[in-house]
Amino acid sequence: MNWSPNSWRSKNAKHIPNDYPSAEALAEVENTLSKKPPLVVASEIEKLKKELAKVSRGEAFLLQGGDCAESFSEFEADRIIRYFRVFLQMAVVLTFAGGKHVVKVGRVAGQFAKPRSSATETQGDITLPSYRGDNINGLEFNEESRLPNPERLMMAYNQSASTMNLLRALATGGYADLAYVNNWNLDFVKKQGKTATDYLKLCHHIEESLDFIGSMGKGSVETDTVSFFTSHEALLLGYEEALTRKDNLFGSGGFYATSAHMLWIGDRTRGLDDAHIEYCRGVANPIGVKCGPSLSPDELLALIERLNPKNEAGKLVLIARFGSDKIAQHLPAMVKKVTEAGKNVVWSSDPMHGNTITSSNGFKTRPFERVASEVAQFMEIVTANGGYPGGIHLEMTGDDVTECTGGNIGVSEEMLPSQYNTHCDPRLNADQSLELAFEIASKLREDRKEQRMAAAGI
Ligand code: PEP
Ligand code: CO
Repeated sequence: MNWSPNSWRSKNAKHIPNDYPSAEALAEVENTLSKKPPLVVASEIEKLKKELAKVSRGEAFLLQGGDCAESFSEFEADRIIRYFRVFLQMAVVLTFAGGKHVVKVGRVAGQFAKPRSSATETQGDITLPSYRGDNINGLEFNEESRLPNPERLMMAYNQSASTMNLLRALATGGYADLAYVNNWNLDFVKKQGKTATDYLKLCHHIEESLDFIGSMGKGSVETDTVSFFTSHEALLLGYEEALTRKDNLFGSGGFYATSAHMLWIGDRTRGLDDAHIEYCRGVANPIGVKCGPSLSPDELLALIERLNPKNEAGKLVLIARFGSDKIAQHLPAMVKKVTEAGKNVVWSSDPMHGNTITSSNGFKTRPFERVASEVAQFMEIVTANGGYPGGIHLEMTGDDVTECTGGNIGVSEEMLPSQYNTHCDPRLNADQSLELAFEIASKLREDRKEQRMAAAGI
């Protein structure tokens, strides 16, 4: 197919910095990276693809989420643990309600680089290059920090490796054991809000179910290991190229991006003949495509054919991110087109990026109500047009931040400055993330009930 890990270099590459002070220094770091151990291996990537194939058939549900941008300064073991715990809690809520396997994909262990709507930022009478993510330049507003520095790529790789190491241990070392589901809610018990009460009730049901299965003498249910996968936006193609490996370990012979299990292409870099599509069409990983208001159904079909010419199930995740006020206008025709063309895809909803507003006190925020509304509309529209609404893609954290307004916890605009910690876009905090999972779960539960009734001819 006339592709190589560096064939993207002859294409138009948007949002990749071209102002590194030394091209040689950048090339040297990329060369060093090309010899480093892969962060993930082909067999795991293929396993994720199989799980996503189930989603595309309506047999499972995809939960994808994490920071908008990971950062060097917020890199702490406890933060990763809190994030992983809320992520698992959401997965438990969705599994219990939907009665389907939940495919767990973190936006983590590599989610650093950011496309920016403006190349520069002005404060007072000083204009500097925009912050582009910790693997490129620094958030601090001074000339030196805003200059791209290739050493940051190595730091991002090292941080990704150690994050991955902890996440693997948590996923397989017993922490994720459903039998300990109550141990995860200590913070919630203290809080006593509606989300906490809902979660405690669910824990009780789970315990009852596990006891029931145990008392039936069916042996113990295997509950202590989960499959957890990683993903990030494939923005910095030099980094991705350096971590691309031909699979010689597992015999597939294909090329794999080994920086994460899944990569996605952002809404600003999905030009059909541009560099990002060129790179992503050649790797065997599952690929996400962000679908925003400027994408037409015909363009989407062309992208699908370019990225997945064999129509392999589990390969493509279409991530709708229109905004609660625009989704009804754009998504129906897209789903219809893809369904009629018989394409195997996973439909997922990113209810974050189309719902960003500026609060009256000047903070970039996302009202919880808009986020929830976009997800609800997404589920109805995809179903009505012959697809399966199979996933959710969130910017979220396990911490008590105040970045998005609303929710049971009632974050007001006045509260935004108190814990506004994000390096880029506003994230749902732990309570809001779990609340959203409950809202989706109740919709999944309704669908499941309808299916049962239909099967019983009622
Ligand atoms: C993101 O996911 O952080 C992002 C920039 O999204 P989008 O490409 O959809 O704007
Ligand atoms: Co974002």
